[in-house]
Amino acid sequence: MNSPLTESIEATIDVHKVRNELQPIPREKVDEEPRLLFRRSSRVQRLTGVAIRSIGSYVPSRIVTNEELEQRYGFEEGWVKRRTGISQRRFAGEGESTSDLAVEAAKRAMLAARVAPSDIDLLIVGTFTPDFTCPSTACLVQDKLNLDAPAMDLQAACSGFMYSLATGAQFIATGNAKCALVIGADVNSRIVQPDDQRTAPLFGDGAGAVILGAGEADQGLVCYQLGADGAGGCMLDRPAGGVTQPLTPELVAAGKHFLQMDGRNVFKWAIQAVTESIEVVLEQAGVTMEDVSLFVLHQANIRIIDHAMKVLSIPRSKVYNNLDRVGNTSAASIPLALDEAYREGRIQRGDLVLMCGFGAGLTWGTGLFRW
Ligand SMILES: CC(C)(COP(=O)(O)OP(=O)(O)OC[C@H]1O[C@@H](n2cnc3c(N)ncnc32)[C@H](O)[C@@H]1OP(=O)(O)O)[C@@H](O)C(=O)NCCC(=O)NCCS
Repeated sequence: MNSPLTESIEATIDVHKVRNELQPIPREKVDEEPRLLFRRSSRVQRLTGVAIRSIGSYVPSRIVTNEELEQRYGFEEGWVKRRTGISQRRFAGEGESTSDLAVEAAKRAMLAARVAPSDIDLLIVGTFTPDFTCPSTACLVQDKLNLDAPAMDLQAACSGFMYSLATGAQFIATGNAKCALVIGADVNSRIVQPDDQRTAPLFGDGAGAVILGAGEADQGLVCYQLGADGAGGCMLDRPAGGVTQPLTPELVAAGKHFLQMDGRNVFKWAIQAVTESIEVVLEQAGVTMEDVSLFVLHQANIRIIDHAMKVLSIPRSKVYNNLDRVGNTSAASIPLALDEAYREGRIQRGDLVLMCGFGAGLTWGTGLFRW
């Protein structure tokens, strides 16, 4: 006779069997009925007793406007602004890598929290544009900052900061870390095909960092959800350069090492994932829209954010956006916007801040943080 555990495992396997029949979704088939294939989740967690002690951010100095890209690559005039809300982005300079941006953001966060390198006992870098495949970018940052701390990369693309924040917070909540440096950093300008009008102009480079420490019992992630749906992985991927398809001159000539994005279907998935995830988190936290002081959503496309605002009836005054100036900076997106919002006085102790990241994987991460 089966035990309840065996039955539950078998039920899980059945679910996987059903899903396995659906995946992988062939690129040409994603268009057919994408909504049916998107995974939904109602799983949430709570992790309090954690405080964000400070935030820091950094963007490279080089500003790249839409007009510059339109002239250089012959992109349709006004398309990027019209379809995404992005006017300009920053590009890392020659010789400037993800770890350099991460270090600058980290220094600013450390200064703001008056934290010395010797105080930091955990380093997490959320990035999907590492300096090298190996060693990790976190190890490079650890060395540049001279930290005595474990250091690891966390790859969850544009959800990288939310995944890293939740991971760092676990160490703080258990007391296994007292002072965690959590960074989101990406140099997207080097992974996009420069003349791909539907992908390249959406992305920019940047880094954001937070220092986490023990907080009051009410502070921290009042409710959060981390989600993944690998069946949609081929909607946003870099097919070559891993061990499945190591780089060859032919693959490079075909541009297979660049980010490939099925933007229209990513868009459809994103508007669903963002609204559903925010709804679940607020509902499970027992919080209404009015209780939330500020919404900081991943800065990918203003139309995705506008859609969420409309469906969830979020007033514009409660949403912080900077994508007009920086574009989609992937893992840096949320901490960059958070830093600006904080410096503008938009976040006070006790406020509830809703952060939501989403991106390749597919992955998403939504957190309601009591400041
Ligand atoms: C790439 C991009 C700018 C191209 O824009 P576009 O060609 O104008 O296409 P749209 O975004 O308007 O439309 C995408 C699809 O969503 C649908 N759509 C748009 N608004 C919608 C809404 N409110 N509700 C439901 N569907 C909607 C459109 O009808 C279209 O579907 P179709 O291809 O079946 O006609 C845009 O699709 C995009 O930003 N995608 C997401 C990219 C992204 O954020 N990537 C990073 C994720 S981290």
